[in-house]
Amino acid sequence: MNAPVPPSAETLRSALATLLDDLPPRQAAQAVDRLIANYRGATPTDAPILRDRADVAAYAAYRMPATFEAVHSALEAFARTVPDWTPATHTDVGGGTGAATWAVSTTWPGERDVTVLDWAEPALAIGREIAAADPTLDKARWQRTRIDSTLTLDPTDLVTVSYVLNELTARDRATLLDTVASAARTVVIVEPGTPDGYTRVIEARDRLIAAGFRIAAPCPHSAACPIVPGTDWCHFSARVSRSSLHRRIKGGSLAYEDEKFSYVAATRLPATPAPARVVRKPQIRKGQVLLDLCETDPSLRRTTITKRHGDLYKAARDTEWGDVWPPEAP
Ligand SMILES: C[S@@+](CC[C@H](N)C(=O)[O-])C[C@H]1O[C@@H](n2cnc3c(N)ncnc32)[C@H](O)[C@@H]1O
Repeated sequence: MNAPVPPSAETLRSALATLLDDLPPRQAAQAVDRLIANYRGATPTDAPILRDRADVAAYAAYRMPATFEAVHSALEAFARTVPDWTPATHTDVGGGTGAATWAVSTTWPGERDVTVLDWAEPALAIGREIAAADPTLDKARWQRTRIDSTLTLDPTDLVTVSYVLNELTARDRATLLDTVASAARTVVIVEPGTPDGYTRVIEARDRLIAAGFRIAAPCPHSAACPIVPGTDWCHFSARVSRSSLHRRIKGGSLAYEDEKFSYVAATRLPATPAPARVVRKPQIRKGQVLLDLCETDPSLRRTTITKRHGDLYKAARDTEWGDVWPPEAP
């Protein structure tokens, strides 16, 4: 039997482009402006921000390629810690148009039992439409659900919560994490790569550790984060080709942008976290590479790899922000 072919970012991009065909550019631009204003404003809200098809089409075309790439990076980092594992069941909480379901299919190709929960019906409807481009999402359930103290979840291998914690009250965030912790074997949380996003990720990390989970990525350990609160924030970067809507609205010459995100993958599986991870963009100087590492001690340390290190130096020159260090054997 042939191995299942993963859907690509390209498949997603073309599915999103067709969505915009029936949305006049002016209306798309207005919907994007409204979304940006809402997301900058005081959240959480009492009712969905994504109100109608125009809002959701704009969200999907404008943000979904970026949230997809961020979640995909986080899942790939986690997958390396459990190389023989594939989730058979996945629940995407606050899944919206399903970016994380695409990221899961891309990381672990093949069919699985998928449930997407969100309170915005238009988001679920468009998510279902876009998912028609990925045959492995054929049987996914798109369920209107409110995340609050009444939320219950069936047992599941993997829960993703991507770009959602920001929209919840502190109390709903805590309840959600407790509910997720009792239902899932693995939980992957992704938030914007801002100081606030990092703070929410660390709160989630602490709560999941208290519930008996171990951290598989990005941290090399499950001890406290070595970053002194308020001095820095742990985040990473994923390259995203700019969507057709970006180009239509913003114009400009750059073919891509970099999505900054913070994440944590917590699991009850016997995962093997990386010995260390590169937590800043490596600095390449003449004859040397400076790497900022988070290590198992736990500690943050800058190491300098020079030409004298031979093959390791060559590897350091190819190493990117977010990679494992030392590099894994191919
Ligand atoms: C920024 S979007 C992220 C969507 C998707 N997870 C992604 O990564 O692209 C936040 C999603 O959370 C949903 N959401 C926010 N608060 C919610 C709540 N209390 N109950 C259910 N869904 C909620 C919104 O409707 C929206 O689809």
